[in-house]
Amino acid sequence: MYRSRIKNETLWSKVVSPQQAAMLIRDGMVVGMSGFTRAGEAKAVPMALADRALAGEPLGITLITGASLGNDLDKTLAEAKVTRRRMPFQADPTLRKEINAGNVMFVDQHLSETVELLRSGQLGPLDVAIVEAVAITENGGIIPTTSVGNSATFAMLAEKVIVEINITMGEEMEGLHDIYIPTRRPYREPIPVVDTRSRVGLPYIPVDPSRIAAIVITDKKDSTAKIEPPDHETRAIANHLIGFLDNEVKRGRLGLNLAPLQAGIGSIANAVLHGFGDSHFHDLTMYSEVLQDSTFDLFDCGKLTYASGSSITLSADKHESVLRNINTYKSRLILRPQEISNHPEVIRRLGLIAINTALEADIYGNVNSTHVMGSQMMNGIGGSGDFARNAYLSVFVTKSVAKGGRISSIVPMVTHVDHCEHDVDIIVTEQGLADLRNLAPRERAKVVIANCVHPSYRDEIADYVAEATRTVGGQTPHMLDKAFFLHQRLRDQGSMQPVAATQAAE
Ligand code: COA
Repeated sequence: MYRSRIKNETLWSKVVSPQQAAMLIRDGMVVGMSGFTRAGEAKAVPMALADRALAGEPLGITLITGASLGNDLDKTLAEAKVTRRRMPFQADPTLRKEINAGNVMFVDQHLSETVELLRSGQLGPLDVAIVEAVAITENGGIIPTTSVGNSATFAMLAEKVIVEINITMGEEMEGLHDIYIPTRRPYREPIPVVDTRSRVGLPYIPVDPSRIAAIVITDKKDSTAKIEPPDHETRAIANHLIGFLDNEVKRGRLGLNLAPLQAGIGSIANAVLHGFGDSHFHDLTMYSEVLQDSTFDLFDCGKLTYASGSSITLSADKHESVLRNINTYKSRLILRPQEISNHPEVIRRLGLIAINTALEADIYGNVNSTHVMGSQMMNGIGGSGDFARNAYLSVFVTKSVAKGGRISSIVPMVTHVDHCEHDVDIIVTEQGLADLRNLAPRERAKVVIANCVHPSYRDEIADYVAEATRTVGGQTPHMLDKAFFLHQRLRDQGSMQPVAATQAAE
């Protein structure tokens, strides 16, 4: 049955077991693997690698992917000690622990940049690529599944290519992908994407069939995503943002179709997109990286006309119905390599509204999306930096408090900066929205404190700024001995709340 999926008959002899294919990978190698936000990762060969390591073989690799992996692969590979170095993104609790213990070296990268570094030799040679596919064309072209990620460049650069044909993925996925690889520097041509709908490449990854070293047949599905339904606070965040965009339309800065939307992962971004379903905006488009349930809900309610991304990551509820009916969506969907979905040139050209999530933001507009208390890695910067720096409107959303109120997400100074004040236009919490455009730092602090900080922290943070302005002054007033007073309290007392408030709450 799988032979119909390998249109080039000379490749039939390359079909082997996952264990045989995994033997192409040895200790110390650099491996590029498909997979982007739990979608379209190679599934069988990495499991065979973990089995070998668990049986006692020394087998540590540098693992480069598109983004996070599904089917608990990051967990399994970390537990088996296969993952020695990891880039450019992860979101797995076990791997996170290994990273924070210093056992895995994690290189946290802008998702658009990884393949540039590979192409220019800065990451060393790529030994093996493992790419999940729907099928292989007559000329050896690899048709990816639910994500493109970095797979095209991995397959083009690797010394050996392993293809995992996943027979649970329908062949009607052919035609969904648009594989465009930028030309070589220093005379690189402009990327010809001028609209979310622009198709500028091939529907498959072009690979010389002689470079395909092994083909494995699998039937394991993508993992589904757990998406929290909108709650009171995420709905409030969505409403603040929609109210703001409404005002932008009234002022003639945006039309009712807004601008192409990008939304990050997670429940807040999902709630915001859901909010667009009830708004009076129409003919919306998305130029994003992960297309989640909300993308398809917006298609179904007629609000969204076109979506471009690099992967499709769905909840259990949506997974079957979307993939079964992919033909009904295909004419309105494109999956691109992540260096194109996240390309600064294209994002700036299209003028995106980018909506990403902050762990914490500070009163001047700097955002930390990755490090808890400045040291502990959460997931990684992912594509948020690609979008935030280059978007027309760069929006960051967060609930004003975390961990039952013990943590204020708005602080005097963030403990790690992923997105600096120059890249952040709007901050939204359930308390309100701070429009930071055109404001100097002293003005920004006032707006952020008034609109975004939870009432239980508002006075203390306002007092901090007043004292810093009075005693230190400057463009961006800070008292270096006090800037982290909330974090120090959290470290020492387990809460950012003053002792009296904590005792009262108990
Ligand atoms: N300090 C410590 N922990 C905090 C915190 C803070 N200031 N703010 C939130 N948290 C904790 C939450 O309590 C929660 O913990 P839990 O997992 O133990 O419940 C966890 O961080 C996740 O927060 P949550 O509010 O559920 O938001 P989320 O699932 O939307 O994730 C990010 C938020 C920032 C971690 C996530 O969006 C991310 O990794 N972003 C960076 C990458 C990115 O933006 N990618 C998309 C680009 S397209």
